[in-house]
Amino acid sequence: MERGARDDVETAMNTDWEQRYRTGDMPWEKGAAHPAIVEFLQREPMRGRVFVPGCGTGHDVRAIAATAVEVVGLDIAPSAITAAKSQPLVGGERYLLGDLFALPAEMRGAFDWVVEHTCFCAIPPTMRADYVRAVASVLKPGGRLFAVFYMTPDMESGEQGPPFGTNAPELDKFFAPYFTTEKKWVPATTYAGREKRELCRVLVRRSS
Ligand SMILES: C[S@@+](CC[C@H](N)C(=O)[O-])C[C@H]1O[C@@H](n2cnc3c(N)ncnc32)[C@H](O)[C@@H]1O
Repeated sequence: MERGARDDVETAMNTDWEQRYRTGDMPWEKGAAHPAIVEFLQREPMRGRVFVPGCGTGHDVRAIAATAVEVVGLDIAPSAITAAKSQPLVGGERYLLGDLFALPAEMRGAFDWVVEHTCFCAIPPTMRADYVRAVASVLKPGGRLFAVFYMTPDMESGEQGPPFGTNAPELDKFFAPYFTTEKKWVPATTYAGREKRELCRVLVRRSS
């Protein structure tokens, strides 16, 4: 690719998340936790410590905290963390301002679950292997990742993400070095407009 064209693509990928929160350009903000996360928590309550990368304003974090587990939500956008912290506490939730790709050492191996929802699809595709390494690094051996992957975002033809689309073989390829797949399914309930565009997975962190 010519240098100029490559610069254009990289600029499009390096989203200024803080700017998007400040200007209210947040189509992902639905005002409530993802229905598939709520449904999963009812069926299979999580135990131990839970990490939610790219937590935004914290709806998923609070739904998890309401089930009486300790949850840490992380986001790179200060305004998202401020909005999350402004909500009444529902349980053992905490919010951290930070970069998933520069996590503090004390988070290494510290979690029993990671909950993924529209963070993987927000990361530039060139950083997908780094995303997988980062979420694997915070899990204990045998820890689980519950994911609602946004596979085929509703984009205009030629429009560039985020969200960046993906597909099942690509997910298999990226997660296989660190995870085995326990379950996968298409969520029965989701936000309006995302029907059949998502895939849920429970992945288990390999011990080595
Ligand atoms: C599409 S939004 C989804 C937010 C939230 N999961 C939701 O569904 O409401 C992606 C989020 O990931 C955050 N994010 C992007 N890159 C990040 C990084 N490197 N570390 C932490 N958070 C990041 C953004 O600030 C944004 O809040």
